Amino acid sequence: MTTEQWTVTRIKAAKGKRKLPCLTAYDYAMARLVDAAGIPLVLVGDSLAMTMLGYPNTLPVTVEEMMHHCKAVSRGAPHALVVADLPFLSYEASVEQAVLTAGRFVKEGGAHAVKIEGGAFRGPTVEALVRNGIPVMGHIGLTPQSIRQTGGYKVQGRAEADAERLAQDAAALDQAGVFALVLECVPVALAERITGSISVPTIGIGAGPDCDGQILVIHDLLGMYDKLSPKFVKRYAELGETMRQAFAAYRADVETGAFPAPEHGY
Ligand code: KIV
Repeated sequence: MTTEQWTVTRIKAAKGKRKLPCLTAYDYAMARLVDAAGIPLVLVGDSLAMTMLGYPNTLPVTVEEMMHHCKAVSRGAPHALVVADLPFLSYEASVEQAVLTAGRFVKEGGAHAVKIEGGAFRGPTVEALVRNGIPVMGHIGLTPQSIRQTGGYKVQGRAEADAERLAQDAAALDQAGVFALVLECVPVALAERITGSISVPTIGIGAGPDCDGQILVIHDLLGMYDKLSPKFVKRYAELGETMRQAFAAYRADVETGAFPAPEHGY
């Protein structure tokens, strides 16, 4: 377990030397547990739109909603690198918009870095953020903020031309200065190819075993969110079921008078 602060320099230096197990977290309590487990990178993912706020996808979540969660995670993770996902339409309109939004997540939210979705066309945005002292994690492959354009949650890069485009996107983002690159739902062979061809760590989700790191949505790992259960998820606990049982037991205890017992009183 680490007691040192993870920085983008340490994350980059891990490439080829050690695997990077990354997780999402959305609140203080969860961030503390993830941080205490020695996870190097915690993403305040816009997946919180679904897991925490009940939206149908990531498109409706706002900067203010994300900021609230980012502040809580930053307070709970003294060692991990905290990365804030920039929500849909908070960075796309212009480089200026991206710098101002990302800057808020660093300045007010306590994030150490931001993540943005998109390929080579995001190069100028990445360059401007990095020039202004804001480290950027890229995200290509399945980009959930583009589901209206792509038609849904589908594996990307199966066709040769698509694979080639994604490899070029990865190279361009590396060149623009990302410190790590999320590869979501791409074929194993393509993830291996990209991992071997760029200078920064690739962080896979549904991208096979050859990436430099892995990331999962914490609710998926804990078995707390069963609306989507993608093939790439490994559930390490069934906390949803454990919680349902605890709530039912509590309800029964209160209804029958078994709780509070004499030892719970003053
Ligand atoms: O929002 C999120 O949780 C993400 C990860 C799946 C990479 O972007």
